[in-house]
Amino acid sequence: MTQPHKEAIRFENVSYSVGDVSILTKISGSIIANQITTLVGPSGSGKTTLLKLCNGLISPTDGEIWIEDQAIDTYDPVDLRREIGFALQSAPMIRGTVYDNLALPLTLQNKELLKKEALHYLDTVGLEYKFLTYNAADLSGGQRQKVSIARTLVNESPILLLDEITSALDQTSAYDIEQLIRNIKDIHGKTIIWITHNLIQAKELGDYTWIMADGKVVETGTSDILHHPTTATAQRFIEGGQA
Ligand SMILES: Nc1ncnc2c1ncn2[C@@H]1O[C@H](COP(=O)(O)OP(=O)(O)OP(=O)(O)O)[C@@H](O)[C@H]1O
Ligand SMILES: [Mg+2]
Repeated sequence: MTQPHKEAIRFENVSYSVGDVSILTKISGSIIANQITTLVGPSGSGKTTLLKLCNGLISPTDGEIWIEDQAIDTYDPVDLRREIGFALQSAPMIRGTVYDNLALPLTLQNKELLKKEALHYLDTVGLEYKFLTYNAADLSGGQRQKVSIARTLVNESPILLLDEITSALDQTSAYDIEQLIRNIKDIHGKTIIWITHNLIQAKELGDYTWIMADGKVVETGTSDILHHPTTATAQRFIEGGQA
């Protein structure tokens, strides 16, 4: 059973800086489990950095992050990667077939992905079985993004981080991916954080939205806040100006 208000991720006063440069400042808040939280804000506001903190690619300079009620710095790195999948706009593929790419998360753990399971993941993302033996380099942008999403599903991670996964795609492929993510949330009950520059997408697909500006979270709430932002910074951003 899903518990609508369970926290999947909690940030407590999280800051991140590189040398003297402050990139994120005192981020606090919770990401609700089994829901889609869209993350919006101007370029350079710190969205990607926040996601990198969630899967341990980088560590906070200050503050605490809790994943499923466990402090992130107490996770074994392999367990953390299993807990959290990360899909990127560029959908990077390793050299080889689609199967090789789907199997990668397990290969890295010296495990095998059965062909039957690989076909199941292809099916989940709406790709025909014939794609399994395709050379990954030959895929279209939309197909590559689907394989990338399928690959994040292989670990059966309860949390998925998506960084601008549709911004390089044509409208039809973007729509396909949006429906796919919605289904993944509904059917598999995943917790999803989705960075997007498309505010319509953020409103329509988000249950919750975080608005960032200048390394801070300036407003959070249900995705309705995109219709009625209350802070001046969020209003400026949504009206198309710079926050
Ligand atoms: N390792 C680093 N060293 C110095 N500055 C960094 C480092 N990593 C990120 N930054 C800076 O931190 C800021 C936030 O970067 P980030 O990639 O998180 O922004 P973003 O909101 O994802 O932007 P975009 O929408 O363009 O992807 C940027 O100004 C970036 O240049
Ligand atoms: Mg980014």
